[in-house]
Parts: sequence; C-alpha cells; structure tokens
Amino acid sequence: MLAALVSVLFKPIRAGIAVFMAVAALFGGILGFEKAEISHKKDGCLASFAVISDTHLTEANGRREVLEIGLEDMSKAKDRLDAFVVDGDITDNGEIPVWESFALAMSKYDISDNNIMVIGNHDTWGSDDPAVTKENFIKYNKLATGREITEVYYSTEINGCPAIILGSEGDHVSATVSDTQIEWFAQQMEAASQTGKPIFIFFHQPVNDTHGLPYTWEMNKDDGPGTGGIGDASDRILEIIKQYKNVFYISGHIHAGFSTADDGTVYSSVEKYDGYTLINTPCYMYSDFLRGGNFLNGTGFVVEVYENEVLFRARNFISGIWQPKYDAVIELK
Ligand SMILES: [Fe+2]
Repeated sequence: MLAALVSVLFKPIRAGIAVFMAVAALFGGILGFEKAEISHKKDGCLASFAVISDTHLTEANGRREVLEIGLEDMSKAKDRLDAFVVDGDITDNGEIPVWESFALAMSKYDISDNNIMVIGNHDTWGSDDPAVTKENFIKYNKLATGREITEVYYSTEINGCPAIILGSEGDHVSATVSDTQIEWFAQQMEAASQTGKPIFIFFHQPVNDTHGLPYTWEMNKDDGPGTGGIGDASDRILEIIKQYKNVFYISGHIHAGFSTADDGTVYSSVEKYDGYTLINTPCYMYSDFLRGGNFLNGTGFVVEVYENEVLFRARNFISGIWQPKYDAVIELK
C-alpha cells in the first residue's frame, strides 16, 4: 500500500522535476550560454556525433519525454550528425517494456544514419541470465537502430573514424570483460590505427580511478581503488589504449555533471593524457547537485572531428544551449 502510494506520488514529482530542469536550463541561456541549433563550429568538419549517457528510462511518467526532447534537438541539427551514441544505462532495469519504450522514442526522430547503443550495468538487470540479457540487447539494438550485432561489443565507423563499442558481459556494477572481448579489442585497435584517424572507444564504465574515482562514485572516502570503474579488466584495456595515439575513450556511469579541472572539483569530465583522452559523459536523466560541477540534466557532448583537432562541445539538449565553459579541444598528433 505504502509502496503504491509512493509510486503514485513520485511519478508526477519526477515529471515536475524534469520540467523544472528544462526551465532552469533556459534561464542558463539568459545568463550567457549560447542558445543555438546544432551546427559545426568551424568549416572543415570531417565527422560529428552526439553522445549522451545514463538515460535511465523507466515506465515512470516523464522520462521518455525528457529523452525525446533531446532527440528532437539532435534531429533538428543544421549540420546532420554522422552518429548518435547512448553510452549505457539506456534503461533503468533492462526490462522489456522499457526497451520497447526506448525503441519507440528512437523511431520518432531521424537523428543520424548511425545510432549507437552501449550496454550499461543497469541494462543488464532485466534477467538473472546473462544469455537473456545479451539476447535482449541484440534484439533491441536491431529494433532501435537497425544494427545487426552478435555480441554486446562491436565496431562501426563514424564518417571514416573507427568507433569501438565495448560492453559488460556480466550483471555487476563493474564490467565483466571476457578474454575473448579483450583479444577482439586489441585486434580492433590495431586495425583502427591503420586508418590514421582518431579512434573513438565507447564503454559505459570509466577506466578505474579516473575522473575522481573511486571517490566520485558514491563520495565515500572508504571506497577502495577500482570502485566505480571498469573493474578487473581496466588495466588490460588501458594498456591496449596506450599503444596508440589519438584515442578517445568515452564513458558514462558516474552521474556527474560537466566539470573542468579549473572548477576545483575532484571530478573533471575530460582528462588529457599523452596519446589518449578520457571523456566522461554526464548523466542525461538525473541532475548532479553533489559533485560541484554543472548540475543540470539533459546534457552531453557534440563531438566534431577536424584535420588537426577534435572538439568536445558541451550541450544541454533539453534547452538547446551550448555550454562552452565545459568544451574541450584536443589536438591530434
Ligand atoms: Fe547510470
């Protein structure tokens, strides 16, 4: 009885919060953000894509609608996006009606010819059987994006730039990555490096102990190394990444808002290293009031590839504003 009452009360509250956040984002525009449609920042863009993460869809009122506001923004891009990525935790629980809801939302908007789904830990919680989870991810990948895959990891390209999608094969908060997947990843990276183009890797979980982890996971000082990251496979994946240049590893999972190293926070959305860059995508569905960065939901990046650099442009897709304070420019080598 109590649970039912709470459920009834929370649905409109959550929907109300989403509306409030959209309005708050609009006030951000008045405060100096740039409200403008999606278009290339400069001439000579070789490839562009949008990436959001942690949409956490449920059957609750409001969430699919909040997602759809962003999808509509992307679909109206003046310069059509070459890809659109949801970097995991697409659903809150991996259950069939929610996958159906995501596929329905995707069917309404023509965003790009290459829509990319990444599996997150929450997406693995619809069944106790990993085989069923994998089957559902494959099925709804086909339904929502038209892509035929056989594993939760796969590769594609974004206007000629290699894109490698990694995914957990287990159902834990940290990722389960088989030796088979690691070997496949190493081969994919070697092949990708031959193109001479920047390489984009999408994996829901961040590399261990980056972006302020383990503290930023639950802001618990007692959390040990590795908490909130890939988990056991992290070192092996990072060692492969380090063998190449112009690599961009894009994660989600932490649920933080945009933050830069200049904010004085323990969390930074973008971490630059020699040859590779780690990018953590904010949580699209939830606000983050706790980690000190930008607290608005509905955010993600529009990424633009140029001959000599890659731009990560922070955008609030709900309100259609750019947030250039959180942009990053990475020179290519
Ligand atoms: Fe999440």
